[in-house]
Amino acid sequence: MFYPYQITSEAAYEKAYAQSIEDPENFWNDIAQHFHWKKKWNKVLEWNFTEPSIKWFLGAQLNITENCLDRHIAERGHEPAIIWEPNDPEEHHRILTYKELLFKVEQFCHVLQNNGVKKGDRVCLYMGMVPELAIAVLACARIGAIHSVIFGGFSAQSIADRLVDAQAEFIITCDGAFRGNKEIALKSIIDDALIQCRFVKKVIVLTRTRTPVSMIKGRDVWWEDEIKKVETQGNPPFPAVTMEAEDPLFILYTSGSTGKPKGVVHTCAGYMVWTTYTFVNVFQYNPGDIHFCTADIGWITGHSYILYGPLSAGATTLMFEGIPIWPDAGRFWQIVEKYRANILYTAPTAIRSLMSFGNGPLQDKDLHSLKTLGTVGEPINEEAWHWYNEHVGQKKCPIVDTWWQTETGGILISNLAGVTPAKPSYATKPLPGVQPVLVNEKGESIEGNNVSGNLCIRFPWPGMLRTTYGDHERCRTNYFAAYPNLYFTGDGCLRDENGNYRITGRVDDVLNVSGHRIGTAEVENAINMHAGVVESAVVGYPHDIKGQGIYAFVIYTSSHGDENLSRQDIAQTVSRVIGALAKPDKIQFVKGLPKTRSGKIMRRILRKIAEGETQNLGDTTTLLDPAVVEDIVAGRL
Ligand code: WT7
Repeated sequence: MFYPYQITSEAAYEKAYAQSIEDPENFWNDIAQHFHWKKKWNKVLEWNFTEPSIKWFLGAQLNITENCLDRHIAERGHEPAIIWEPNDPEEHHRILTYKELLFKVEQFCHVLQNNGVKKGDRVCLYMGMVPELAIAVLACARIGAIHSVIFGGFSAQSIADRLVDAQAEFIITCDGAFRGNKEIALKSIIDDALIQCRFVKKVIVLTRTRTPVSMIKGRDVWWEDEIKKVETQGNPPFPAVTMEAEDPLFILYTSGSTGKPKGVVHTCAGYMVWTTYTFVNVFQYNPGDIHFCTADIGWITGHSYILYGPLSAGATTLMFEGIPIWPDAGRFWQIVEKYRANILYTAPTAIRSLMSFGNGPLQDKDLHSLKTLGTVGEPINEEAWHWYNEHVGQKKCPIVDTWWQTETGGILISNLAGVTPAKPSYATKPLPGVQPVLVNEKGESIEGNNVSGNLCIRFPWPGMLRTTYGDHERCRTNYFAAYPNLYFTGDGCLRDENGNYRITGRVDDVLNVSGHRIGTAEVENAINMHAGVVESAVVGYPHDIKGQGIYAFVIYTSSHGDENLSRQDIAQTVSRVIGALAKPDKIQFVKGLPKTRSGKIMRRILRKIAEGETQNLGDTTTLLDPAVVEDIVAGRL
């Protein structure tokens, strides 16, 4: 045992859990001792869920990068912090030790400062999975700027919306990104976004793909040139800026049930403690282990379990630029073998996709280094769970099914690898500090076991969101208004006879496509922008690989008659407006949509039709025109 707060037996878990409920303040007070503070707190917690107002470690001062970098230098300065595997297996990998990473982060802090970035400024990062993305994220944190990473799959319009919302004046990007055999022209997409964002002052561009770019005078600078300037100044150190515990650390946009993504805000101290504590305990990380999380840093999983959690724990984190199936479906296994990775953390959609290639790609790979497997992002079906267990873990590796959300900052419900029991398709038990509640439609808490309901949390944990950027009321209505004094997750859930939790999926109008959250309203808005579209309704349907697919019912005024071309046009529009990740899998042209007399679309019926149900569509008598349903059923794709 290397971490004083590491839980190493089931009894210790029970004990820690009980303590965390009976006396949360003392519980977290003890854990927080094991971090580096510039000044300690004078109060552990102050909260109410009505405003909401959530404050942890009040009065404390820190910088998360001192915890992720500086404090490890003496003991493990020469140990690898980041191992980076490029997209192309023929290209050289890179290893950054803690010492090198700190050096590069400090160097880039100077670049940020030289370009006018100050504490509190919002900096948008739109980059591929290169080590410089990690460096840039940490440099923002060190200087006290609020980073907002945007996943490389989002469109110019989505970027512009986020830049406007965050009023981000600074952007860090790359000329392009490699993903499999594709090249994504990131800088050119940024240029398109910036036509609408004249308030952006500086764009720092890293060379990665040598994709041609146009640099705007006075606005755009090259990363490499800016680094050279710091080198000529002799690479002075860059002391970490003092942050208050509740200063914002980052914004990460995520979809909700309205058309507009929300900027989820996480703050410095609580997020740090939560990601570190959960990283060590869920994965049972031990110093020297190599942790391979396959997520993209554009999502919360990458923030918490590629960067902040592992680095704060002094771990070695493996960062992969490419995709699971290029050059072939053995890529993950080749990477595990090459670096002797000990922990593999990935999404059920990736497992299902790799499973569809059969066991061939695994056969010649040495996976004996693996100790722990993890999944995240969506419910895992039993078939995928067993395949992961038998063929990847060779029945020797505990699997942690980790349930959490962008808003929760880190894992809330999961077994602890090899310490508490797993149950296929169950996230199992809440981590210490987490108090789940299941509620019924009326908001009454459902006690006892063998029950299901909407999943809420009744007490704050350090890693939870504090607000939605620029609109606190939205945070309240979205998460704290559905049920008084509870945080509402948006997920449906059941609790088995032993108190294990199984997440059954979203109960709001949010889809989970390949582990990515997409609001149906966002997709509808995008579809409706197409000139030929009168109205649309989007629902999810079960998809073998993606978990959920996107099914769009569209009222269309055909101009050129070719339905397939029209479908492609609409999909292209969605791609332009949101990004390729939101493209509908199926588009059905319909004459009308099932609406109530008050004009509300009855999605319940559409969902059933999309799922393949034709008979039991439930009560259709309240519909304005029940005949549309028959038409839709008849034209089902
Ligand atoms: C939604 C959150 C958590 C980081 C990646 C996704 C679903 C997440 C699980 C799981 C079943 C899960 C939920 C949740 N989800 N993990 N282990 N089992 N469902 O973060 O984009 O914020 O999405 O993903 O529906 O609400 P996100």
